[in-house]
Amino acid sequence: TAVLGGLDIGGTKCAAVIGTETDGGIEIADKIAFPTPSGPEAAITRLCRELEELLARHGHPPLAAVGISCGGPLDSRSGLVLSPPNLPGWDRFNVVAPVRERFGVPVGLQNDANACALAEWKWGAGRGTQNMIFLTFGTGMGAGLILNGRLYAGANDMAGEVGHMRLAEDGPEGYGKAGSFEGFCSGGGIARLAAAMTVEWLAAGKRTLLAADRGAAAGITAKAVGEAAQAGDELALAVMRTVGRQLGRGLAVLVDVLNPERIVIGSIYARQRELLEPFVMEELRREALAVSLQACEIVPAGLGEQVGDAASLSVARLALEGRQKER
Ligand code: BGC
Ligand code: NA
Repeated sequence: TAVLGGLDIGGTKCAAVIGTETDGGIEIADKIAFPTPSGPEAAITRLCRELEELLARHGHPPLAAVGISCGGPLDSRSGLVLSPPNLPGWDRFNVVAPVRERFGVPVGLQNDANACALAEWKWGAGRGTQNMIFLTFGTGMGAGLILNGRLYAGANDMAGEVGHMRLAEDGPEGYGKAGSFEGFCSGGGIARLAAAMTVEWLAAGKRTLLAADRGAAAGITAKAVGEAAQAGDELALAVMRTVGRQLGRGLAVLVDVLNPERIVIGSIYARQRELLEPFVMEELRREALAVSLQACEIVPAGLGEQVGDAASLSVARLALEGRQKER
């Protein structure tokens, strides 16, 4: 039987996957992931090669369609990636054309957050809802909006670019803005916030697992902050409190404007939920209208670490049906 192919392009990692739709679910048959090469040509060439490798490994099944899930801004109709903050050098690169040429099957493109929203809605934690939001919270912060039972892409595919919203006057930079949603709630944002807080902490003569000495503050990663917080490090916990509160603040805007039934959050939230949730909920209760909040559940991605793979396959599924925008 024919398989679906998926290409996931993120700011940190890329992956090629193959899979098939099952009764009410998605089965990921195989996957090859690798760090995102610099420059779009190298990345697309490698992605195509890995997809061919996956097909070869599985005895060359017929390929029905390919879906590409990629960080935006992008234009799903023309196949152009526009000016993605986490993919430097990709401006106005057509990611669809080379893939279509190579495989000769329908190829679709979607914003990664939109694609994840479709995957979670169809196969994961969004099942059964009519109004749900997916937030990426990984290398970048983006939202996919399912409203009234269909994907809402906006006038030119830009709906859900919430990472660009400014939440505070001061804060780590993300998406070219200090204090933005992506500034606080992304891997790089957490690292920058932790580095700045570590400098102050050490200057005050306090100790932290995040830095054995002042110089180490530059190399802090979001992962290290999560681990130190798990180990009870006071500074790392303070960083996570700030991040959780700002996440709650961003969520409050979405809850007030869109009145969703469910908000599904991926990546860092899925991994650090226990730490973040109390701060998120505290801020949400302070900031969002109680009547809206009471109707909304905040949950981690149901597809877990597979959400990105399922996302690209959900785009392949749309391409197969000759649709770019709807469910
Ligand atoms: C981009 C979004 C994307 C998100 C997650 C943001 O920086 O603007 O389009 O969905 O990162 O990759
Ligand atoms: Na989006």
